[in-house]
Amino acid sequence: MKKVLVTGGLGYIGAHTVVELINHGYDPIIIDDLSNTSENVLNGIQSITGIDIKFYKENVCDPIALDKIFKENPIDSVIHFAAFKAVGESVQEPLKYYSNNIGGLVNLLQVMQNNGVKNIVFSSSCTVYGEPDISPVNELSPIKKANSPYGNTKQIGEEILSDCKFVNTVALRYFNPIGAHSSAKIGELPLGVPNNLVPFITQTAAGIREKITVFGDDYNTKDGTCVRDYIHVSDLAIAHVKSLDYLSLHPELQFEVFNIGTGNGLTVLEIIKAFEKVNNIQLNYSIGPRRPGDVEKVWADASKAQNILGWTAQHNLNEMVKSAWEWQKQLSV
Ligand code: UD1
Repeated sequence: MKKVLVTGGLGYIGAHTVVELINHGYDPIIIDDLSNTSENVLNGIQSITGIDIKFYKENVCDPIALDKIFKENPIDSVIHFAAFKAVGESVQEPLKYYSNNIGGLVNLLQVMQNNGVKNIVFSSSCTVYGEPDISPVNELSPIKKANSPYGNTKQIGEEILSDCKFVNTVALRYFNPIGAHSSAKIGELPLGVPNNLVPFITQTAAGIREKITVFGDDYNTKDGTCVRDYIHVSDLAIAHVKSLDYLSLHPELQFEVFNIGTGNGLTVLEIIKAFEKVNNIQLNYSIGPRRPGDVEKVWADASKAQNILGWTAQHNLNEMVKSAWEWQKQLSV
């Protein structure tokens, strides 16, 4: 079984990916500094898979700790999730984002080079497209100036990886991951007030938040609210497995990027209404002002991932909003 180091493996996307790695015959090792998650997530993963997973509570910016992990384990490949991701916070504290997201990546690459490890899957984002002129966007669509330091760290991260010829990279540009594992044993658990739409919806449904504010209804979209491409987190997780399979078949790959989305654009109100209908819950929401920095509409052309990785999204919207609620409900039990 190939050993895969998963940085940020106890985060939302990381944990779902660890589960799918085990389901598909890989042997994951996790490094996570627990800065935005808790060690309980490890119990969730172990309860789903029945496997004891090696976990290091370390920070990817620490070269000595990282080197020790590479010396202790015959690592075949790395999946690099460990990064900060709050857009607004990145505007307030840009250096926190540059030092962690860029510093962590550079350090990881240096340790990979020193230890002769070549394969890496990188968490990128649809944010690299900024406000696109047309959707769906494909991988050749223009990269616009980032609208936040967070977005810039994803653009710079891709550039660093494409410059580093000593690694073979698959960069995955995620659209909007939502939902939770079908067991409801792992899911999204933001610390503090959620920034993202779906955790805000589930926490409002659970009575933790009073109401959802829809950020603007005067956009040029079908109902005036922003359009995104929401994708089930377990589908996104499987895209990482397919990327590792692809890397092992293409040792001379160098750098390849894929959009990971469903190809469907949905408005904020469509998500709220789907959540209400599928879960039979009425949500308290109102329309508020636009959120600065929001993109009006973006959705994916994911045909490259389909043609080259053999990957397509399998879960529909109902499954996404149902699983998100199942996860939230068991949190309060
Ligand atoms: C943003 C980033 C994305 C990043 C993600 C991680 C951009 C363009 N996108 O996604 O790259 O990976 O954060 O956190 O920078 N909304 C409301 N009310 C709320 C919350 C959200 O109406 O309380 C709306 C937003 O205006 C948006 C949609 O819901 O239209 C989705 O928002 P969110 O879940 O925060 O994701 P993005 O901003 O798309």
